[in-house]
Amino acid sequence: MTRLSLKFCLPLLLLAGCGLHPVALGSSAPASVVPVSDWPVHRSPTAVDVAMERRIAEIVAGMTLEQKVGQITQPEIRYITPEEVRQYYIGSVLNGGGSWPDMDKAATVQEWAALSNRYYLASVSTDMPTQIPVIWGTDAVHGHNNVAGATLFPHNIGLGAAHDPALVERIGRATARQARATGITWVFAPTLAVGENRRWGRTYESYSSDPAIVGQYADAMVRGLQGGLDGEGDVVATAKHFMGDGGTFNGIDQGETRATREEMITRHGAGYYAALDAGVQTVMASYNSWNDVQAGEDYGKMHGSRELLIDVLRGRLGFDGFVVSDWNGIDQVPGCTKDHCAAAINAGIDMVMVPEDWRAFITNTVSDVREGRIPMARLDEAVTRILRVKMRSGLFERAPSESTYNGRADAVQASALAREAVRKSVVLLKNDGGVLPLARDRKILVVGASADSLSNQTGGWSLTWQGTENTNADFRGGTTLLGALRRVLGADNVVYSIDGVGVDVSGFDAVIAVLGETPYAEYNGDVRHPAPVQHSLAYPADLTTLRTVSGRGVPVVTVLYSGRPAYANDLINLSDAFVAGFLPGTEGDGLVDVLLGGEYDFTGRLSFAWPGSACSTGEGPGDIVQFARGYGLSYAKAVTVGRLPTPITPATCEAQEPYARE
Ligand code: GLC
Repeated sequence: MTRLSLKFCLPLLLLAGCGLHPVALGSSAPASVVPVSDWPVHRSPTAVDVAMERRIAEIVAGMTLEQKVGQITQPEIRYITPEEVRQYYIGSVLNGGGSWPDMDKAATVQEWAALSNRYYLASVSTDMPTQIPVIWGTDAVHGHNNVAGATLFPHNIGLGAAHDPALVERIGRATARQARATGITWVFAPTLAVGENRRWGRTYESYSSDPAIVGQYADAMVRGLQGGLDGEGDVVATAKHFMGDGGTFNGIDQGETRATREEMITRHGAGYYAALDAGVQTVMASYNSWNDVQAGEDYGKMHGSRELLIDVLRGRLGFDGFVVSDWNGIDQVPGCTKDHCAAAINAGIDMVMVPEDWRAFITNTVSDVREGRIPMARLDEAVTRILRVKMRSGLFERAPSESTYNGRADAVQASALAREAVRKSVVLLKNDGGVLPLARDRKILVVGASADSLSNQTGGWSLTWQGTENTNADFRGGTTLLGALRRVLGADNVVYSIDGVGVDVSGFDAVIAVLGETPYAEYNGDVRHPAPVQHSLAYPADLTTLRTVSGRGVPVVTVLYSGRPAYANDLINLSDAFVAGFLPGTEGDGLVDVLLGGEYDFTGRLSFAWPGSACSTGEGPGDIVQFARGYGLSYAKAVTVGRLPTPITPATCEAQEPYARE
């Protein structure tokens, strides 16, 4: 048992969630029934720097009210110029998904870095007695995904299947360098959601439904991103979204998490204990609310929950960095609007992500403090925490442009590492007859709309927020699975037909069908209850394509790109081999490495259970599980799957009769 896993596993031991046999924790009853009544106690791993704290106090004491409010304000780059950052004493900017310098998707690394430098120089050119550098935050959630030409890694759902924290730490290091290449020193990652309902559109941003995996990866990604925190290849990381984003009722994004206190502590908190112990410097509040229905305790929206943001996060868990709100997240606090929310700041939000309406926010918040609705002490504490993180990360000592990675296009490349991550993140669900690995001297027919689509291969949060409106060329790099097959087997040995219609399949040694979801992000990816969650219902063309090429006497290998564990028994039954590709990112070569004979075997193991019916959306007692969490075949472990049951999918999951079998 490694140091970390014991440390963060302590609350989980009660649920034997760590591969340890439950040990009694000071009681005679078996540990598995000892209720978890309170939040674990953690202390910041960062020693208090007395001189730094004194310096911060002196700076805060010399700031005007307007300067303090400017410091807690985070506009989006489309809505604020460098000159306005100077004029309004702005503490941070962000670029949202699909936002680039001059709104140019093709902006170069140098252009990103130049804009960063303009914001930085403006922020340190104010009339303040002590200049406070602005900090730029970005969603680099699977590599630096807004930047054209950057290598994009598999999304978290695939990394979870790799069961390789060391790999995740290396990905964090590479992602930090990618960010520093563009002059950005703060990344809104890792997402520490423990995904529970595959209806949720952000399932792919979760590493696993197993809190133990989330905890291991939280530690790894924070250490990878932050490194020594003030180095030229380091960035500030963000533990998000605090707390319970993966547990909302019916998987409704930004909805109500009805977890019990024990579930919140032992499941949804698991990633945070590890991230905090790894020294994460920022936490992003979550849109969801928490309503402990069983206990009759409704904590309300996280953005307005003093219990969670102050009593738990700061009190019990010892967090000494700063809390940032989510995009207009304060708007969801009762009585608040996008540009005005004393309640959220009083509840413990330190920096407010107010992308567009930042001027009004500043005016309203200055009034709130002046008229006593926000205590000056609370504002001072928020500014203090922000300055602490900026100083710890070296921002007061060195401009972002002073990094050796700054402006370097090669620093956003990490193809070999991403290719390794792809190999390790895909899961072999079926390989009947040992169809895989394919020999390298074969003639292959490739079908499926996803075979040559970097968009479907990378998913949401890729160049744009939703991952849509992109062409392969927009990525300025990357390799689709089709492209990788052509490169390895020779273009003459690989024929592509998007749907297989009119092709004489018998002329080929094998068919590779590449199916997949089209990209989405956040609530746009929700499959709202009571709709069934079945790939072939959402993407009927994929089923049609498979039916066109299956049963023709030529083995069919299916690869499915999905942001969630997808009910697909109908597709699996039409395939001789079936690979869960999840969302592998830009390096399609990693898939070819394991599909073709050679050096690599499949090692991926599901980090979410794979459903056995269209209405089984979780991993609870009522759900039919086709492949359990931890399942994954390899060439060394040949298992015949055979024909899977295909229960009749009801029109709606409310009419969820006992499953009639066909
Ligand atoms: C989004 C997401 C959050 C992201 C933020 C900034 O709405 O919830 O994960 O970091 O806005 O883009």
